[in-house]
Formats: sequence, structure tokens, C-alpha cells
Amino acid sequence: MSIWLKKVIWFILTLVTIYIITSRMGFQQIFINIFWVYATAGFLLYVLLDLPPLKQPKSKAGKSILLLLTFGLFSGIYTGVSAFLPQFDPSVEIEKINKPPFVMVEAGPELIAAGKDIFLSNKCVNCHKADKTGSSDRGPNMDLWQFGLRTPDELKEDIVDPRKRQALGFEDPKSKKAMPTYFGEEISKGEFSALFAFLSTLWNKENIPVRGKVGSEAGLIPWDEDPEIIALGKKVFEGETYDDLFCAGCHGKDGTPLMDGARDLRNPLSVSRNHDRKLKDWTDADWFKSVSEGVSEGDTFSPMKAWLEEYPPKAIWLAITYAKQFHKKPENQKLPEPEELEPIHDLW
Ligand code: HEC
Ligand code: HEC
Repeated sequence: MSIWLKKVIWFILTLVTIYIITSRMGFQQIFINIFWVYATAGFLLYVLLDLPPLKQPKSKAGKSILLLLTFGLFSGIYTGVSAFLPQFDPSVEIEKINKPPFVMVEAGPELIAAGKDIFLSNKCVNCHKADKTGSSDRGPNMDLWQFGLRTPDELKEDIVDPRKRQALGFEDPKSKKAMPTYFGEEISKGEFSALFAFLSTLWNKENIPVRGKVGSEAGLIPWDEDPEIIALGKKVFEGETYDDLFCAGCHGKDGTPLMDGARDLRNPLSVSRNHDRKLKDWTDADWFKSVSEGVSEGDTFSPMKAWLEEYPPKAIWLAITYAKQFHKKPENQKLPEPEELEPIHDLW
């Protein structure tokens, strides 16, 4: 009896020791379980060997039955134990591989630095200035391009399949064929997400950039005067692009406020809560601040929410581009000075 008790105590001590050592070494629980299973199997074998031998059955039939029972017992243990262990599931692994790279809005500094390395090592900088590095204007200057406005998919298409869409101002035959078409093979998925993270930091909310070649070359269009962009902005403003982002629902399709207290976007003399410039004098940064951060007084938010918390920068800029058009219309230039602003809590 006491010899059995000793064995069991030794066994438990072994399990505890395994636990302490392996968890110190940083093994995950699943591996610790596997070590426990090994130790238990070893212990059982030891117990089995230590048992008094079974009496040999005399008949042939008895021997056969015993053989079958032993076979059944061990097969049972095998299948039972393996059913508890984690299984390799190819479909899960394939899903992991196929998952598209995701760019976080605020990628960490390491990812951004890795992205810059990829930009330099792939010689992008030979044709594109970026982060004030490089000297060539063969391709668009990344510091002047709004990359925060591209979804990762659009950006990837621009890089992997550069012939598909021509950058504005780079339609001449030489530029058309300048960008190499092999980056899809050279740059891996993981590297792409780092590259996007880096390119997104070049996005400068202080000024909406020009499109087309800069300097003496012709074809300069400020981003917010490009009819293509204004048309996209209209869709966002009128709630067609993003679920529940519906500026026109409060500000009206033609800028005539539908909601009491919503700012009159037609009136060039409208004022802001955030500063004292009239609408006609707002800078791009003013616009971006008002629409991305919303309008609040301390903790009290007006119905004008901080839209950047829910929608990407692209949505904000496109909505602004369209919102900017109302006060430029000639018939809106003679609107009377707007009334005083009400306290924010009265707007609801
Ligand atoms: C040999 C010169 C060259 C190299 C190298 C090059 N590009 Fe370009 N790239 C261009 C030119 C020229 C254009 C404009 C014509 C076009 O759209 O294809 C362009 C266009 C682009 C555009 C689209 C811009 C827009 O607004 O449509 C992106 C994005 C871009 N390049 C990123 C990259 C990245 C990232 C790399 C490195 C992995 C790279 N390029 C390497 C010449 C180059
Ligand atoms: C739920 C209704 C609502 C929606 C949707 C809405 N706004 Fe507003 N907006 C308001 C109200 C109300 C104000 C006035 C806030 C105040 O003065 O406190 C306002 C104010 C503004 C202002 C002036 C901010 C300032 O600095 O004082 C701008 C610009 C503006 N909205 C643009 C937009 C754009 C662009 C969108 C779409 C992305 C949008 N709004 C969506 C209700 C809304």
C-alpha cells in the first residue's frame, strides 16, 4: 500500500515540476499539456510493468481473445488521446495565408520605418520624391500626393499594375511606360502593408495637394477643383458611399440646412465654432479640423460629430471637397449675414 502511495506522490511531483520548468521556459499551455500526457503515459507503462504477470490462458481461443482485447485497449487509448490534441486544419491555414494585408490607421513606428526601407530598397525613390528624400520628378512626388486618400487596394493596384490608371500630369508616352511592372512579384504581402503604412504618413492634412506635374510644367489642378474628385465628393456628401455618413441629411443637398442649427454651407459669411474666420476664408486645415473633429464644447458634442472616428480620411476629404462648392455659387454670394450661434446644448 505505502509503496503505491509513494509512486503516486512521485507522479504528482513530476507533473508539478514539468509545469514549473516548462512555464518558466515560456511554453504555451497546449505544449505543457502534451508534456503531461507523455509523463502520464510513461507512468502508466511503469505501473503496467510492475504489475504481477497475468496467468496465461490455456486454450487457443482464450489467447486470441486476450490479444484482441489488448489491441482494442491500445487503439482506444491512441484515438482517445489524439482526439484531445489540437488538429491541423488546412482550411484554417489557407484562410490565414489569403487574408489581405490590413493597414491600421495608426501603424506603429517600426512598421512605418520598415515601409520606408522597402521604398528605398526597391528604388521607388529614383522616380518618386518621398519624405523629402530623392531628387527626381519622373513620377509623382509622394509628398504632394494625398496617399491617405487611397484605400490600400487602390494603392496596391497603382503599384502592381501601373499601366491600368495613369497619374494625372503623367500622360506623356515616356511617363506612361516608366514605372516598372514587376513590383507585384518583388514585394510580398507583408511588405506591402509596411509600404502602405509609410506612404500614409506622407499624407499631409494641412494642404490638399496639387495633382499633375509641379514646377514649370503645365497641367496643375488643385485636388479640390478636379471635377472627378468633386463628383466623388457629391456621392459621399449625399450618403451614397458610406453607410450612415449623410452630410446632406442635415446640411441639405444644395447646402440649405435641413436641421435647425446646422451650419449654412451656402453662406460665404458663415462662421465656425472652432475659429473666427468666415467660411469663404477657411483654409483646408480649418475644414479638416471641423469635419474630422466635429463641433463640441467641453464634453458636449453637437450633432456634428467627429466623423474621422468612424470614417477614413478619404471620406472626410471627399465630403469637404463637395461641401466647399456651395458658397462659391454666384447666387449664394449675396446671402445676408447669418444669425448668432446658439449654445450647443440647445441644438439637440
Ligand atoms: C522608373 C521610375 C519609377 C519607379 C522605379 C517607380 N515608379 Fe511609381 N510611377 C512612375 C511614373 C512615371 C508614374 C506615373 C505614371 C503612372 O501612373 O504609371 C508612377 C506612378 C506611381 C503611383 C500612382 C500615382 C497616382 O496618383 O496615380 C504610385 C502609387 C507609385 N508610382 C508608387 C511607386 C512605388 C511604391 C514604387 C517602388 C516600389 C515605384 N512607384 C517605383 C515611375 C516610377
Ligand atoms: C446629424 C446632422 C449632421 C450631419 C450628418 C453632418 N453635420 Fe455638419 N453640422 C451639423 C450641425 C448641427 C452643425 C452646427 C454645429 C454647431 O454649431 O455646434 C454642423 C456644422 C458643420 C460645419 C461647421 C463646423 C464649424 O467649424 O463650426 C461644417 C463645415 C459641417 N458641419 C460639414 C459637414 C460635413 C462635410 C458633413 C458630412 C461629412 C456633415 N457636416 C455632417 C449637423 C450635421
